[in-house]
Amino acid sequence: MTRRVYLDNNATTPVLPEVLEAMRPYFGERFGNASSIHHHGQDTRAAVERARQSVAALLGCRASEIVFTSGGTEADNLAIFGVVRSGDHVITSTIEHHAVLNSCKHLATEGCEVTYVPVDGQGLVDPADVKRAIRPNTKLITIMLANNEIGVLQPAAEIGKIAAEADIYFHTDAVQAAGKIPLDVNEIGCDLLTISGHKVHGPQGVGALYVRKGTQLEPMLYGGSHERSRRAGTENVPAIVGFGKAAELAIAGLERGDDVRGDDMKMAAARDRLERELLSIEATGLNGEGAPRVPNTTNIYFDGIEGEALVIALDLKGLAVSTGAACSSGSIEPSHVLIAMGLPVARAKASLRFSLGKQNTPEDIDLALNLIPETVSRLRDLSPVYRTVVSK
Ligand SMILES: Cc1ncc(COP(=O)(O)O)c(C=O)c1O
Repeated sequence: MTRRVYLDNNATTPVLPEVLEAMRPYFGERFGNASSIHHHGQDTRAAVERARQSVAALLGCRASEIVFTSGGTEADNLAIFGVVRSGDHVITSTIEHHAVLNSCKHLATEGCEVTYVPVDGQGLVDPADVKRAIRPNTKLITIMLANNEIGVLQPAAEIGKIAAEADIYFHTDAVQAAGKIPLDVNEIGCDLLTISGHKVHGPQGVGALYVRKGTQLEPMLYGGSHERSRRAGTENVPAIVGFGKAAELAIAGLERGDDVRGDDMKMAAARDRLERELLSIEATGLNGEGAPRVPNTTNIYFDGIEGEALVIALDLKGLAVSTGAACSSGSIEPSHVLIAMGLPVARAKASLRFSLGKQNTPEDIDLALNLIPETVSRLRDLSPVYRTVVSK
């Protein structure tokens, strides 16, 4: 049987065994509606509130500032549509996740104006551009913390300071930063921050929005008074409990500085080894080189290769990687992130993302390093244009 190695943890991560164990009773005997006043309801209410404490601890905020949602996408939408009204101006970047980009696109149809600040060749936003973009009617700055495709970390704290000085709300999508780097909402200086359960070895379909006390946020869903009237709907108790456990494990992993299971190998060291060896293949390069990055992600171009073809060829051999955001896979459009960084279309299409998770072992990296160079070489041998491309 083919041994399967999964290096696509920015798309989703496997639920850790401890997380599954924590969730299990809430699918069975502990089934109460967390809003019920009887024993069953009190039991699940207590579990939801414990999970809220754990998620708050991951972000350095108060439990009362956490709103549970159905995931990162909903949290991004709530942050944006919860504070922006017709006539307002919003500042975002060109490399956001589509949960933010398409929300901003929709705002434009509702009488709002949006400024998209560019990124440089490393994928970094210049805070001075953000400052320059501010107008009297700017209501929100929404700029991500870690990019899902290249792992580059934006200067969020500097942007937070600019937003605070101008008295503008600052939202940051920290979905790809949570669990990978220490997070503190006060250090970042944000009013709103998004995280997602399934990117931190919790279950899919749960996320959270941090809402700083005092932020004027309108709900998107109307119904009961759940989540302090910020998000109506019966809580997804098993998922929230799993998210809480995943947050606890993420905190423990960050404190240990050792994020890869079964070994002392640290996440960054494993990623760096993979990266170093892949970059020794001819006509390759690192996207986001020199910029601060989360420790689990590397995005590399293999000139002369169609990224999708490499993903499929590697998958046939048991290695799961990706060409970029999972949400846009299946489309042949080059990554909007790489294009915004100034990569030519062919190079953007020749780029692959490798992202590690807590379950990965040194043997997984060995297997990847056995498979990738030979597969790249085989595809290049098949390519009629490769020699012309690299000799340019
Ligand atoms: C940066 C970023 N934001 C938001 C999301 C959406 O999160 P979810 O899948 O929980 O809706 C993702 C998922 O890929 C992401 O990477």
